[in-house]
Amino acid sequence: MTEEEVFTSVGEEGFTRLVRAFYARVPGDAILGPMYPAGDLAGAEARLRDFLIGRFGGPPRYIEQRGHPRLRMRHLPFTIDQAARDRWMALMDRALDEARLPEEATSLLREFFHAMATFMINRS
Ligand code: HEM
Repeated sequence: MTEEEVFTSVGEEGFTRLVRAFYARVPGDAILGPMYPAGDLAGAEARLRDFLIGRFGGPPRYIEQRGHPRLRMRHLPFTIDQAARDRWMALMDRALDEARLPEEATSLLREFFHAMATFMINRS
């Protein structure tokens, strides 16, 4: 499976389910909870969902609305050390388990998230 084929396999509905399962855990998390905008969690959820959909072969809504992702730069305002990275990944790992997407897409997404999360570390 190529990255572009993930959207065909997972669909809009699958990405929505995955990102919802992730954000359901954010507010109650001691590290991540305070970092996210309490009044706009629905907006944050939509941004991550649309980014993933565009990145994996679906409609390019994220780029249309937010421009080039430049994710590392967009994350600089947040203190992302190893602990924050590991917590983000732990929540996403659980969301991936819970969303029960097709197996091949799940492993591809898991690897993508692991690499991206490490790339996002901006404090030692
Ligand atoms: C490593 C730990 C990470 C932390 C602590 C973190 C934290 C955050 C926070 C606090 C926001 C702002 C929420 C908002 O209002 O949109 C954000 C935005 C975002 N994050 Fe992360 N993030 C992490 C990793 C990732 C990874 C691995 C990805 C992609 C696979 C990602 C994709 C995004 C996207 C697309 C946005 C919206 C950017 C925008 O358009 O403004 N993040 N992240």
